[in-house]
Amino acid sequence: MKTSAFVLSALAAAPLVAAAPAAAPLVESNKLRRVLLRSELRARAEELHAIAVRNGGNRYWGTAGHWDTLSWIEAQIDTNYYNVERQYFNITEQTSLGGWVTIDGVAYENVNGMAGSPNKTVTAPIINVKNFGCVASDYPESIAGKIALVARGDCYFAVKNVVAQTAGAIGIVVYNNDDTNFQPGLGYPKDYNATEFIPAAFITKSDGRALVTRLGDGTLPATVKTLTSQTSGISANLIATTKGGDQNQIITVGAHTDSVKAGPGINDNGSGTIAQIEVAKALTKYSVNNAIRFCWWGAEEVGLVGSRYYASHIPEEEAAKIVMNLNFDMLASPNYMFGIYDGDASDFESPYATNGSALIEQTFIDFFKEVGKPSVPTAFSGRSDYQGFLQINIPAGGLFTGAEEIMSAEEAVLFNGKAGVAYDVCYHQACDDVKNLNFDAFITNTKSMADAVAKYGRSIAGFPFPRPAVKLTPRGPLSETMVARPHLGKHSGQGGCSNANVEA
Ligand SMILES: *[C@@H]1O[C@H](CO)[C@@H](O)[C@H](O)[C@H]1NC(C)=O
Ligand SMILES: *[C@@H]1O[C@H](CO)[C@@H](O)[C@H](O)[C@H]1NC(C)=O
Ligand SMILES: *[C@@H]1O[C@H](CO)[C@@H](O)[C@H](O)[C@H]1NC(C)=O
Ligand SMILES: *[C@@H]1O[C@H](CO)[C@@H](O)[C@H](O)[C@H]1NC(C)=O
Ligand SMILES: *[C@@H]1O[C@H](CO)[C@@H](O)[C@H](O)[C@H]1NC(C)=O
Ligand SMILES: [Zn+2]
Repeated sequence: MKTSAFVLSALAAAPLVAAAPAAAPLVESNKLRRVLLRSELRARAEELHAIAVRNGGNRYWGTAGHWDTLSWIEAQIDTNYYNVERQYFNITEQTSLGGWVTIDGVAYENVNGMAGSPNKTVTAPIINVKNFGCVASDYPESIAGKIALVARGDCYFAVKNVVAQTAGAIGIVVYNNDDTNFQPGLGYPKDYNATEFIPAAFITKSDGRALVTRLGDGTLPATVKTLTSQTSGISANLIATTKGGDQNQIITVGAHTDSVKAGPGINDNGSGTIAQIEVAKALTKYSVNNAIRFCWWGAEEVGLVGSRYYASHIPEEEAAKIVMNLNFDMLASPNYMFGIYDGDASDFESPYATNGSALIEQTFIDFFKEVGKPSVPTAFSGRSDYQGFLQINIPAGGLFTGAEEIMSAEEAVLFNGKAGVAYDVCYHQACDDVKNLNFDAFITNTKSMADAVAKYGRSIAGFPFPRPAVKLTPRGPLSETMVARPHLGKHSGQGGCSNANVEA
């Protein structure tokens, strides 16, 4: 009786926002790494797989499988140590149901509609547009009421659409810069200050060039028809920030929680999700000098929607507190490489390379050296959940064990893998289940995550922070509804067009 009364009063006296127990030692890489176990990773992977199985085989955004994933993560996060919140966002997924182009009575064969293009048919003369149709001066004076023929390149497809519309065009046909074709996405008209897009179709380079020549300064009768289906819903990011640590020096750590429709997504990206859970749990035994914010992003597979929502809606003064973003996806590919984002652009050209991102890369390189394992740079393309952070000037880095690309002979020697075989043969398929995981890679990468969390949780000495104040971009009139843009994913399955709808 006495004892419990004592405990009760002690509890009552405890500060409401207790961080780590006062006596918790400062986090250390070795200690944090030591408690991470392969068996626990496997157990989590099995639980996550069971969630997919219970919910029709996947964990796609908006489905019960995805909501269950969020609840499952929440149940494992200690709310004494972390402030946990769900950040909800509206999402619209658009799929083109087709695009049709008829010129002078002849229907083109290789045509795609642009997703987001309205359900509409327009018939009018088609006319050539100069350059890339990105600025008003590219359009002829006689454009009003006509269909614009425009080359791909230089600006977003949506920008061409809106500029053409403003110039008076009622439809637009864009031709590719090669002879492939794919389904570009326009996004949301409001993001471009438009109420609606005009019907937009996409044809091949050779069809386009032939038409340019045939048109010259003249016109031909044309019809453009597009159909888009639209699904709206809500999804959420899960954000857990340590109560301890300097809240003005935050390290964000992210992985995505949704899968593709085709499968359970256990490597992609269950592995990043799981690694973060285990590191977040282990961290609660320690104190940190800098706050750590674990982010489990929603709706990545349809175009990095959750992370883009976060980065584009965060107030500038809050963004200024984020020191860096660490991104972890596909950590356990069966035929893995230890890939580290090339933050200094030493091996892959990147517009995003900064001193901060280079330092993060070095942190990961050092870890792999320390544990005596090989690593290779991997493209710092921004085509992942760290993109939104780079766009608001926050340095980023992370790990990636490879997806559908083929392992080279050199890498096969380095990683004792199979040359000529994909890093992940089950990428985006039903077989991306627990059996698909390579646990050697999984545990090593999880420890590497722990190492970076411990290092930066202790100190950011030498890191370029605070950043010089920069006006955050893009900060346009961003709609509340995030439009899915599948091509923004690193691996769009659209061979060769990975950033196709980023730059037209
Ligand atoms: C989602 O859209 C609905 C309806 O427009 C709106 O009421 C709600 O506030 C939106 N939610 C978010 C998180 O933006
Ligand atoms: C939309 O209009 C606003 C206000 O006029 C302007 O600041 C912004 O740059 C425009 N955005 C685009 C994408 O044209
Ligand atoms: C366009 O029409 C198709 C059927 O042809 C329909 O499924 C779809 O919902 C329509 N899209 C919009 C945005 O109304
Ligand atoms: C990046 O690092 C180099 C070498 O340390 C330094 O000279 C340069 O000023 C740094 N750039 C920025 C933008 O901090
Ligand atoms: C895993 O998630 C990241 C973003 O979090 C994404 O860029 C990457 O493409 C995903 N993996 C694959 C292979 O889809
Ligand atoms: Zn994926």
